[in-house]
Amino acid sequence: MSNVTIEIPHDFMLGAAASAWQTEGWSGKKAGQDSFLDAWYQQDRHVWHNGYGPAIATDFINRYREDVALMKACGLTHYRTSINWSRFLLDYETAQMDEEYASYYDRLIDEMLASGIEPMLCLEHYELPAVLLEKYGGWGSKKVVDLFVRYAEQVFAHYGHKVRRWFVFNEPIVVQTRVYLDALRWPYQQDTSLWMQWNHHKNLATARVVQLFRAGGWPGSIGTILNPEVTWPRSSAPHDVKAAEMYDLFYNRVFLDPAIKGVYPAQLFTLLAQHQVRWSYSDEDLALIAAHRVDEVGLNLYYPHRVKAPSRAWHPETPFHPAYYYEHFELPGRRMNPSRGWEIQPRIVADMAARMRDEYDNFPWFIAENGMGIENEARFKNEQGEIQDDYRIAFIAEHLHEALLARQAGINCRGYMLWAFTDNVSPMNAFKNRYGLIEIDLENQRQRRMKKSAHWFRQLVDSRQLTLTLDDEPK
Ligand code: BG6
Repeated sequence: MSNVTIEIPHDFMLGAAASAWQTEGWSGKKAGQDSFLDAWYQQDRHVWHNGYGPAIATDFINRYREDVALMKACGLTHYRTSINWSRFLLDYETAQMDEEYASYYDRLIDEMLASGIEPMLCLEHYELPAVLLEKYGGWGSKKVVDLFVRYAEQVFAHYGHKVRRWFVFNEPIVVQTRVYLDALRWPYQQDTSLWMQWNHHKNLATARVVQLFRAGGWPGSIGTILNPEVTWPRSSAPHDVKAAEMYDLFYNRVFLDPAIKGVYPAQLFTLLAQHQVRWSYSDEDLALIAAHRVDEVGLNLYYPHRVKAPSRAWHPETPFHPAYYYEHFELPGRRMNPSRGWEIQPRIVADMAARMRDEYDNFPWFIAENGMGIENEARFKNEQGEIQDDYRIAFIAEHLHEALLARQAGINCRGYMLWAFTDNVSPMNAFKNRYGLIEIDLENQRQRRMKKSAHWFRQLVDSRQLTLTLDDEPK
């Protein structure tokens, strides 16, 4: 074991993230303002762990002043959340703003700025209005792209003068992958064509919002937040390598390439056509995507994804799914977070960093989410009732270390944002796995309490130095 200390550059962000729907709660929400998540929770509450969900969440909407004070206590220099599209408007067609909700955001932003915390706002973190799913089929419709741009226009008009860092989507691939590709979430459909249509309309919406932001001359930058999964083949055999390349094409490059390079990978068009995946796009759409690329990307990096070549034949009557090309692979002995079922391997950061340098021309990026969700953290409380989350400190330190090494090597990595600031609600897992620097005590009116990691994070920011213990290579 050896101790290593590494400097944290002064312009390297150290912050944390959350989203509107996972924190705010329904307090003050008006009839007709349900999001896709709210509708899912109302339809199928039994799949949400212990029945918790977005209804109260962490009650951030009522407790944001207390929480901003805690952000400051943890030393956060940046905090990212979303604006809840379903609540920001009273009428999604005319983009009539909900003044009450908008003024809450004004107060929140002002409070953060007064506390020296830079707000980073995302326009969609799965908060598609439920009525747009019902009426138009959500992102399957181009009409919804138009309505989203109208919503973005209102948001920029209202906060563009005081927020400098904007993001169009958080993980734009997730909802349709879970709903239309894997049918794991309400409303449970399997339709690969629809999945691709949602992907395309979200890419188009990204370009159109970037265009709008620049045309408005708003100060600051506009990016998007993606979740490329660092994908490793089981072996170096060509069939396993191909499986990893295919996984990467269908789940990672489908968003990375349009956002950064302005084009879809040519192979994607070929394979989708070959497998009769029908999606509509026009030359005008592709030109818009080419012309309006984002300024930066936030990357959510949690675990490596390992794949192998498929060992079974595809049933001729089963419609195409990208799994045609791969199977998941579990490396025996891998290091795991058993609560979440995700492998832990900090090398994903170095791999992604090298990829951003080599394949994306050293494009500006930062870690937008990374963190460790642990079940039943109360078992780690000390006598004073503080959660001793040394496992989280180690997790952050190891991943941050890789990011800082990449930065030292000249890679354009601009920061590290932890998921999450406080414990919050996850889709389905609700409060099962706790991610926060701050505990939310559900037994005691959602009382907030700093965990050991919160003090550690504060010292990290104050000292601008990371010290960690690394395992030495065996001799
Ligand atoms: C990211 C999302 O996928 O990971 C968050 O942006 C999410 O919304 C986080 O909560 C952690 O994943 P999970 O499934 O454990 O909540």
